[in-house]
Amino acid sequence: MPVTIKSEREIQLMREAGKILARVHEELAKEVKAGMSSYQIDKICEEMIRSYGCTPSFLGYEGYPGSVCISINDEVVHGLPSKDKIVKDGDIVSLDTGVIYKGYQSDAARTLGIGEISKEAKQLIDVTKQSFFEGIRFAREGYHLYDISAAIGDYVEKFGYGVVRDLVGHGIGTEMHEDPQIPNFRQKRRGMKLQAGMTLAIEPMINIGRPDVAWTDDDWTVVTDDGSLSAHYENTILITKGEPEILSL
Ligand code: MF3
Ligand code: CO
Repeated sequence: MPVTIKSEREIQLMREAGKILARVHEELAKEVKAGMSSYQIDKICEEMIRSYGCTPSFLGYEGYPGSVCISINDEVVHGLPSKDKIVKDGDIVSLDTGVIYKGYQSDAARTLGIGEISKEAKQLIDVTKQSFFEGIRFAREGYHLYDISAAIGDYVEKFGYGVVRDLVGHGIGTEMHEDPQIPNFRQKRRGMKLQAGMTLAIEPMINIGRPDVAWTDDDWTVVTDDGSLSAHYENTILITKGEPEILSL
Protein backbone atom coordinates (compact mmCIF):
# COMPACT_ATOMS: atom_id res chain seq x y z
CA MET A 1 0.00 0.00 0.00
CA PRO A 2 1.29 3.49 -0.75
CA VAL A 3 2.00 5.84 2.14
CA THR A 4 -0.93 8.22 2.44
CA ILE A 5 -0.69 11.98 2.69
CA LYS A 6 -3.47 13.28 4.92
CA SER A 7 -5.67 16.20 3.92
CA GLU A 8 -6.14 19.20 6.21
CA ARG A 9 -9.50 17.77 7.29
CA GLU A 10 -7.97 14.39 8.12
CA ILE A 11 -5.12 16.05 10.00
CA GLN A 12 -7.63 17.96 12.11
CA LEU A 13 -9.35 14.70 13.09
CA MET A 14 -6.02 13.07 13.91
CA ARG A 15 -5.18 16.07 16.11
CA GLU A 16 -8.43 15.52 17.99
CA ALA A 17 -7.77 11.78 18.33
CA GLY A 18 -4.23 12.47 19.54
CA LYS A 19 -5.31 15.04 22.10
CA ILE A 20 -7.79 12.58 23.59
CA LEU A 21 -5.22 9.80 23.67
CA ALA A 22 -2.71 12.09 25.41
CA ARG A 23 -5.32 12.77 28.08
CA VAL A 24 -6.13 9.07 28.46
CA HIS A 25 -2.44 8.36 29.08
CA GLU A 26 -2.13 11.18 31.62
CA GLU A 27 -5.18 10.01 33.54
CA LEU A 28 -4.27 6.35 33.33
CA ALA A 29 -0.77 7.02 34.70
CA LYS A 30 -2.40 8.56 37.79
CA GLU A 31 -4.69 5.56 38.29
CA VAL A 32 -2.18 2.73 38.04
CA LYS A 33 -1.01 1.62 41.48
CA ALA A 34 0.66 -1.39 43.08
CA GLY A 35 -1.92 -4.11 43.84
CA MET A 36 -3.99 -3.56 40.70
CA SER A 37 -4.42 -6.32 38.14
CA SER A 38 -3.76 -5.66 34.48
CA TYR A 39 -7.40 -6.62 33.93
CA GLN A 40 -8.50 -3.70 36.14
CA ILE A 41 -6.17 -1.33 34.30
CA ASP A 42 -7.69 -2.43 31.00
CA LYS A 43 -11.23 -1.81 32.22
CA ILE A 44 -10.34 1.69 33.45
CA CYS A 45 -8.64 2.48 30.16
CA GLU A 46 -11.58 1.28 28.08
CA GLU A 47 -13.99 3.36 30.13
CA MET A 48 -11.81 6.47 29.76
CA ILE A 49 -11.56 6.08 25.99
CA ARG A 50 -15.32 5.64 25.68
CA SER A 51 -15.99 8.59 27.98
CA TYR A 52 -14.32 10.79 25.35
CA GLY A 53 -16.61 9.43 22.64
CA CYS A 54 -13.86 7.31 21.11
CA THR A 55 -13.58 3.61 20.30
CA PRO A 56 -10.65 1.60 21.73
CA SER A 57 -8.74 0.66 18.58
CA PHE A 58 -7.00 -2.36 20.10
CA LEU A 59 -10.18 -4.12 21.25
CA GLY A 60 -10.84 -6.95 18.79
CA TYR A 61 -7.86 -6.03 16.62
CA GLU A 62 -6.80 -9.41 15.20
CA GLY A 63 -8.70 -10.85 18.13
CA TYR A 64 -6.91 -8.82 20.82
CA PRO A 65 -9.10 -9.05 23.95
CA GLY A 66 -8.34 -5.68 25.60
CA SER A 67 -8.17 -1.93 25.05
CA VAL A 68 -4.59 -1.54 26.23
CA CYS A 69 -1.47 -3.67 26.14
CA ILE A 70 0.04 -3.89 29.63
CA SER A 71 3.60 -5.19 29.52
CA ILE A 72 5.36 -5.63 32.86
CA ASN A 73 9.16 -5.79 33.42
CA ASP A 74 10.61 -8.27 30.90
CA GLU A 75 7.43 -8.12 28.82
CA VAL A 76 8.20 -5.99 25.77
CA VAL A 77 4.78 -5.36 24.21
CA HIS A 78 1.28 -6.82 23.77
CA GLY A 79 0.91 -7.92 27.40
CA LEU A 80 -2.63 -9.27 27.79
CA PRO A 81 -4.93 -7.96 30.50
CA SER A 82 -5.29 -10.63 33.17
CA LYS A 83 -6.86 -10.90 36.62
CA ASP A 84 -3.78 -12.87 37.66
CA LYS A 85 -1.23 -10.24 36.73
CA ILE A 86 -0.81 -7.87 39.66
CA VAL A 87 1.36 -4.78 39.42
CA LYS A 88 3.86 -4.52 42.29
CA ASP A 89 6.07 -1.86 43.77
CA GLY A 90 9.31 -1.64 41.79
CA ASP A 91 7.78 -2.89 38.53
CA ILE A 92 7.99 -1.06 35.25
CA VAL A 93 4.76 -1.14 33.30
CA SER A 94 4.38 -0.25 29.63
CA LEU A 95 0.92 0.91 28.64
CA ASP A 96 0.22 0.97 24.92
CA THR A 97 -3.23 2.04 23.77
CA GLY A 98 -5.06 3.63 20.88
CA VAL A 99 -8.27 5.44 20.07
CA ILE A 100 -10.46 5.95 17.03
CA TYR A 101 -12.15 9.34 16.74
CA LYS A 102 -14.53 9.87 13.81
CA GLY A 103 -12.71 7.16 11.86
CA TYR A 104 -9.18 8.40 12.63
CA GLN A 105 -6.64 6.66 14.80
CA SER A 106 -4.03 7.63 17.32
CA ASP A 107 -1.58 5.22 18.97
CA ALA A 108 0.77 5.92 21.90
CA ALA A 109 2.69 4.14 24.64
CA ARG A 110 4.29 5.15 27.94
CA THR A 111 6.36 3.18 30.45
CA LEU A 112 5.64 3.90 34.12
CA GLY A 113 7.66 3.06 37.20
CA ILE A 114 5.52 1.77 40.09
CA GLY A 115 6.62 3.18 43.47
CA GLU A 116 10.39 3.02 43.99
CA ILE A 117 12.16 1.56 40.96
CA SER A 118 15.84 0.73 40.52
CA LYS A 119 18.30 3.23 39.04
CA GLU A 120 18.79 0.84 36.12
CA ALA A 121 15.06 0.71 35.40
CA LYS A 122 14.75 4.48 35.62
CA GLN A 123 17.57 4.99 33.15
CA LEU A 124 16.04 2.48 30.73
CA ILE A 125 12.72 4.35 30.80
CA ASP A 126 14.43 7.72 30.31
CA VAL A 127 16.67 6.56 27.47
CA THR A 128 13.74 4.90 25.67
CA LYS A 129 11.71 8.10 25.85
CA GLN A 130 14.66 10.26 24.82
CA SER A 131 15.37 7.97 21.84
CA PHE A 132 11.95 8.91 20.45
CA PHE A 133 12.91 12.59 20.67
CA GLU A 134 16.32 11.92 19.09
CA GLY A 135 14.53 10.14 16.24
CA ILE A 136 11.99 12.84 15.52
CA ARG A 137 14.68 15.47 15.03
CA PHE A 138 14.75 13.91 11.54
CA ALA A 139 10.97 13.59 11.19
CA ARG A 140 10.37 16.40 8.74
CA GLU A 141 10.24 17.06 5.03
CA GLY A 142 13.74 17.00 3.56
CA TYR A 143 14.88 13.95 5.54
CA HIS A 144 14.34 10.26 4.81
CA LEU A 145 12.40 7.72 6.84
CA TYR A 146 15.38 5.70 8.02
CA ASP A 147 17.17 8.82 9.24
CA ILE A 148 14.67 8.54 12.11
CA SER A 149 15.51 4.85 12.60
CA ALA A 150 19.26 5.51 12.64
CA ALA A 151 18.96 8.37 15.15
CA ILE A 152 16.92 6.22 17.55
CA GLY A 153 19.19 3.19 17.28
CA ASP A 154 22.48 5.06 17.46
CA TYR A 155 21.37 6.93 20.57
CA VAL A 156 20.17 3.79 22.38
CA GLU A 157 23.21 1.70 21.53
CA LYS A 158 25.50 4.22 23.27
CA PHE A 159 23.97 2.94 26.52
CA GLY A 160 24.64 -0.69 25.62
CA TYR A 161 20.94 -1.48 25.41
CA GLY A 162 19.30 -3.79 22.86
CA VAL A 163 16.95 -2.22 20.32
CA VAL A 164 14.15 -4.66 19.53
CA ARG A 165 14.36 -5.53 15.85
CA ASP A 166 11.37 -7.81 15.39
CA LEU A 167 8.79 -5.05 15.98
CA VAL A 168 8.56 -1.67 14.29
CA GLY A 169 6.69 1.63 14.17
CA HIS A 170 4.21 2.32 11.38
CA GLY A 171 2.12 4.73 9.39
CA ILE A 172 -1.31 5.43 10.88
CA GLY A 173 -4.58 7.06 9.79
CA THR A 174 -7.90 5.39 9.14
CA GLU A 175 -6.04 2.15 9.93
CA MET A 176 -3.90 1.60 13.02
CA HIS A 177 -1.16 0.03 10.91
CA GLU A 178 -0.47 1.67 7.58
CA ASP A 179 2.70 1.75 5.52
CA PRO A 180 5.54 2.46 6.00
CA GLN A 181 7.13 0.20 8.61
CA ILE A 182 9.57 2.14 10.81
CA PRO A 183 12.46 0.18 12.34
CA ASN A 184 14.19 1.59 15.40
CA PHE A 185 17.77 0.94 14.28
CA ARG A 186 20.12 1.97 11.49
CA GLN A 187 19.32 0.62 8.01
CA LYS A 188 21.65 0.25 5.03
CA ARG A 189 19.72 2.92 3.09
CA ARG A 190 17.99 6.15 4.01
CA GLY A 191 14.61 4.89 2.82
CA MET A 192 11.74 6.91 1.40
CA LYS A 193 11.59 10.68 1.45
CA LEU A 194 9.41 12.14 4.18
CA GLN A 195 6.60 14.42 3.05
CA ALA A 196 4.40 16.88 4.90
CA GLY A 197 1.04 15.26 5.68
CA MET A 198 2.39 11.81 6.55
CA THR A 199 1.24 10.56 9.95
CA LEU A 200 3.51 8.07 11.69
CA ALA A 201 3.61 6.13 14.95
CA ILE A 202 7.23 6.10 16.14
CA GLU A 203 7.75 3.54 18.89
CA PRO A 204 11.13 2.45 20.20
CA MET A 205 11.05 -0.78 22.23
CA ILE A 206 14.28 -1.10 24.17
CA ASN A 207 15.76 -3.90 26.29
CA ILE A 208 18.41 -3.47 28.97
CA GLY A 209 20.01 -6.64 27.64
CA ARG A 210 20.00 -8.28 24.22
CA PRO A 211 17.60 -7.21 21.45
CA ASP A 212 16.14 -10.70 21.00
CA VAL A 213 12.51 -11.30 21.90
CA ALA A 214 10.23 -14.33 22.19
CA TRP A 215 6.47 -14.89 22.00
CA THR A 216 4.86 -16.54 25.01
CA ASP A 217 2.26 -19.27 24.69
CA ASP A 218 -0.69 -16.87 25.08
CA ASP A 219 0.29 -15.96 21.46
CA TRP A 220 0.36 -12.23 22.25
CA THR A 221 2.78 -11.30 25.00
CA VAL A 222 6.28 -10.60 23.70
CA VAL A 223 9.09 -10.97 26.25
CA THR A 224 12.84 -10.41 26.20
CA ASP A 225 14.69 -13.60 25.42
CA ASP A 226 17.25 -12.99 28.17
CA GLY A 227 14.71 -11.94 30.80
CA SER A 228 16.03 -8.36 30.96
CA LEU A 229 13.74 -5.36 31.51
CA SER A 230 12.15 -3.67 28.52
CA ALA A 231 10.60 -0.24 27.97
CA HIS A 232 8.39 1.25 25.26
CA TYR A 233 7.59 4.83 24.27
CA GLU A 234 5.37 5.82 21.37
CA ASN A 235 3.59 8.81 19.89
CA THR A 236 1.62 9.51 16.74
CA ILE A 237 3.26 12.39 14.87
CA LEU A 238 2.55 14.55 11.83
CA ILE A 239 5.31 15.30 9.32
CA THR A 240 5.42 18.95 8.25
CA LYS A 241 7.90 21.14 6.42
CA GLY A 242 9.27 22.16 9.83
CA GLU A 243 9.16 20.65 13.31
CA PRO A 244 6.98 17.53 13.53
CA GLU A 245 3.71 17.88 15.40
CA ILE A 246 3.46 15.33 18.19
CA LEU A 247 -0.26 14.60 18.03
CA SER A 248 -0.55 12.32 21.08
CA LEU A 249 1.34 14.49 23.56
N1 MF3 B 1 -0.08 -0.66 19.67
C1 MF3 B 1 0.56 -1.67 18.93
C2 MF3 B 1 1.35 -0.90 17.93
O1 MF3 B 1 1.86 0.08 18.34
C3 MF3 B 1 -0.41 -2.61 18.34
C4 MF3 B 1 -1.16 -3.35 19.35
S1 MF3 B 1 -1.84 -4.70 18.64
C5 MF3 B 1 -3.22 -4.97 19.52
O2 MF3 B 1 1.47 -1.11 16.80
F1 MF3 B 1 -3.73 -6.01 19.03
F2 MF3 B 1 -2.90 -5.11 20.74
F3 MF3 B 1 -4.01 -3.98 19.39
CO1 CO C 1 2.01 1.47 17.31
